[in-house]
Amino acid sequence: MTDPLLFPSRDDASTNTSGNTRFEAVLHARLSRRQLLGGGLGAAVLTLTGAGLPNAFAAPAVPEAAAPGRRTPRLGFTLVGKSLEDAVVLPDGYRYSVLFRVGDPIAASVGEYLNNGEDDPASFALRAGDHHDGMHYFGLGANGRHQRNASRRGLLCMNHEAITAEYLHPRGQTVADGVRTDAGEVLREFYAHGVTIVETVETVEGGGKWRYERSSRFNRRIHTLTDIALAGPAAKTRYMVTKYAPDGSRTRGTVNNCASGHTPWGTYLTCEENWASYFRRIASIDDPRRSPKELVAFARYGVRGKGRELWATVTPDIPDDLYGRWNAMKLGASDDGGDDYRNAVNTYGWVVEIDPFAPASTPQKRTALGRFAHEGAWLGPVRAGAPLVWYMGCDSRDEYIYKYVSNQPWNPADADGGLAAGDKYLDDGRLYVARFDADGSGKWIELRFGVGNVTGANAAYPFADQADVVVHAQLAADAAGATKMDRPEWAAVNPANGEVYVSLTNANASNRPLAELDAANPRFYTDRKTTGQDQRGNPNGHVIRFAEAGGEAGATSFTWDVFLFGARASADAKAVNISGLTDANDFSSPDGLWFSPATGVLWIGTDDRAYTDVTNCMLLAAVPGSVGDGGPRTIVSSDGVSSRAVNTYVGAPLGEENLRRFLVGPKECEITGLAETPDGRALFINIQHPGEATRPDYATARFGSHWPDGGRARPRSATIVITREDGGEIGI
Ligand code: FEO
Ligand code: CA
Ligand code: CA
Ligand code: CA
Repeated sequence: MTDPLLFPSRDDASTNTSGNTRFEAVLHARLSRRQLLGGGLGAAVLTLTGAGLPNAFAAPAVPEAAAPGRRTPRLGFTLVGKSLEDAVVLPDGYRYSVLFRVGDPIAASVGEYLNNGEDDPASFALRAGDHHDGMHYFGLGANGRHQRNASRRGLLCMNHEAITAEYLHPRGQTVADGVRTDAGEVLREFYAHGVTIVETVETVEGGGKWRYERSSRFNRRIHTLTDIALAGPAAKTRYMVTKYAPDGSRTRGTVNNCASGHTPWGTYLTCEENWASYFRRIASIDDPRRSPKELVAFARYGVRGKGRELWATVTPDIPDDLYGRWNAMKLGASDDGGDDYRNAVNTYGWVVEIDPFAPASTPQKRTALGRFAHEGAWLGPVRAGAPLVWYMGCDSRDEYIYKYVSNQPWNPADADGGLAAGDKYLDDGRLYVARFDADGSGKWIELRFGVGNVTGANAAYPFADQADVVVHAQLAADAAGATKMDRPEWAAVNPANGEVYVSLTNANASNRPLAELDAANPRFYTDRKTTGQDQRGNPNGHVIRFAEAGGEAGATSFTWDVFLFGARASADAKAVNISGLTDANDFSSPDGLWFSPATGVLWIGTDDRAYTDVTNCMLLAAVPGSVGDGGPRTIVSSDGVSSRAVNTYVGAPLGEENLRRFLVGPKECEITGLAETPDGRALFINIQHPGEATRPDYATARFGSHWPDGGRARPRSATIVITREDGGEIGI
């Protein structure tokens, strides 16, 4: 029996009450131009181009970093069909092996995982965490240093976003009257979140089989108990004062590590996504003297309630506030918060830099990149003498796309600079947020104190300084007039031309009603499920892409179009299945994206709760063109009461030749964690939370999935390695 989801999405509710980008404004902008011209959309675009605005149809400039003469890949595998099996399905000629499952030990001193909920909680400090998510492969040289082209041995860095407590403990969480009564279970959960670094090696040269080194000196867990430094403009400011570090220089732990990123100097970036929900703050019993700004910030970031895992409820607490640090209420008498954890929420929501090659190093929360529901941080084209750029999505409904641009130009001499290079490039830069305009252009608006509406005079939230701006980046983005998107997930940068792709995973009818469609989020429809449980809004999501002006990643304007719309193949071709998907490639809820530097293939993983009546989540391979290869399109949407026409820009249809299903995962999983060896011959993906949607029947050991161990085993999130039987590059 499938109950309602055990773990409903924590990001379903919008906390964005700003008035940014409403359909009316977009419509009026278009209408006035069209009326002015007395012509259609094409004429409008031509005129805008002539007026000096970006031309959505111009070929983008190719940055120097792009590989000159790079061939356009051709997909070279036989597609797989949709599947509801409890198995990983791959094309003929491909194989996979299970590399690293939740609970697997990363030290010789730790025993095999029992997978019955009885493993010693403390042992989780040296076991794989749960819910494997974003991941990156760093080649490891024989000298123990980063070797960029090492494809047989590497350090795999991966996130553990969350937990499935039903499988982690004997019978799920032990809770009485809203209180966690088993401190051991909570300790196990503290360790099961965070990051793993594990050395990974191909066992036989060219043989395609991989294993992890259980005793590697590089193996490491970073979790909710790890000491982490705060760096950048918000470090050592009043916003960061806690009892743990009254000088605001540090915090303890990282949580809800979703997707990730990397740097040109070989460090890993882990990104804190739905951190807000872990904190306890019950407004009715908090100190009534919380400031008006604090209250605005709590509401905007969704800090409310008991805390999703009830971590703050364990008693007695121990001297170093192991549990109480998840309590964001004002309990102490101090003015600054140095005697409680009222400011603890400000120490979460960051991009965290980890040096996997320095196991004793302290991770750094890089506050210059802003505080929000960070999905990940994706590096733009790297070019000597040009700034470094990271693209970042804030994954909640109605949230924004950001980018960070370093002030220091990239110097290749820093390629082995470790965390010191991070200090140079990640603590000193500019934070921008994206506005998608109706004419196919867009603007990056800087979030800087004193610029635009990001000032002390901003009525919704008067900013005090730049630390306030980065700590409250979502409020700054509201003030800047950014465009609300349909839940930005991963980004990926095309190595051939520097164009940036961003998954907009889905939207529901309440957060994207018909009246609030805009050019970049243009669909409202009813997704008709075979089960009759229809969903309305944009439940299948889309992938948007943009080309920076002049091919410069640091540019402040861009042109965009919608690369791909998720849909059932059977959906209406005019209003829903606009990308012409067929049974070979239809999908819903794009999330993970990865451009293979080796092959140029764009991999698309799904995290779907809409098309799951027909298929489990999947991985597709795409060969994209470029921004502007399609054209303008008018999409007419209806909510059954009224209808609206929205003009947008849509990429050229890909067809089965250029978009094809490569893999389908086991039951109730998400496909994520895309990473690859530099030679493109091993693809690592994560199967996250198989079986998460079905209430377990412990008595009969029947679970929503038994993958990967089979039989009556509890399901386990796991990393798999995909290789080709002939040893070739994946996907082509
Ligand atoms: Fe953790 Fe937005 O996925
Ligand atoms: Ca995701
Ligand atoms: Ca997702
Ligand atoms: Ca998930």
